[in-house]
Amino acid sequence: MILGIVQTHPVFGDITGNQIQIERLMGDRQADLWVMPELALTGYEMRGRKESLELSEELPAGPTTKWLAQLCRDRNCYIVIGLVEREGQKVYNSSVFMGPKGIIGRYRKVHLFDKEVERFDPGDLPFDVFDIGIARVGIMICFDWRFPEVTRTLSLRGAQIVAHPSNLVLPFCQAAMVTRCFENNVFAATANRIGEEDRDGRKVSFTGRSVIMGTQGELLASGAIAATDVMTVEIDPKKADDKTINPYNDTFRTRRVEFYEM
Ligand code: ACM
Repeated sequence: MILGIVQTHPVFGDITGNQIQIERLMGDRQADLWVMPELALTGYEMRGRKESLELSEELPAGPTTKWLAQLCRDRNCYIVIGLVEREGQKVYNSSVFMGPKGIIGRYRKVHLFDKEVERFDPGDLPFDVFDIGIARVGIMICFDWRFPEVTRTLSLRGAQIVAHPSNLVLPFCQAAMVTRCFENNVFAATANRIGEEDRDGRKVSFTGRSVIMGTQGELLASGAIAATDVMTVEIDPKKADDKTINPYNDTFRTRRVEFYEM
């Protein structure tokens, strides 16, 4: 299968313009599964919870879902993308997983970063793994990388690919993903954005360099640091199923959980 990333430069609040940008960047490139950045349609620096609610939508009733469903049908592909999700009075930094037949799942960011704590409710859904036939896909969002338990949990639950929409502001994640993938024998696609936002009393810069990682922690594709980008790589998701290290050791089976602090 072909795994792809679109690395974007969202304009804050311009949902339609950001949709057009994504489609333009995809061009005629083909992928079976595309991963797009966190909050890819709205931008990142909401001025508090009220603005998050204004930019939010319900799943699957919202307009973004309809646009995404059409995009997946037109291109016969699956997409994981970050957006602002509203449910009742709650507002989440979420990612939706869409396919040609409609919505497959959603994930609400569990580990909110910095001022996100003032803008969103913390995620309240489990780390689900979604089987789309060509692959089993787990989702985490940006700062979740900093907690190895997330990739571990998704991998233990059978994920072959970790889809990782991101708006990275620190430079460490791409290097850490080498270890996340190696220690779990799992693929990952960290889809980052570029650009700056200066809306909430500080300037925030996003670090680009999206990465697609192989099961041995090898770098399969890497995006530009300061420009929009698109990357696609052919992978065999089944490579993530064999956790054997040698005849005596297995990444998961020979763990000694009775000695671990969880
Ligand atoms: C982040 O979690 N967006 C840094």
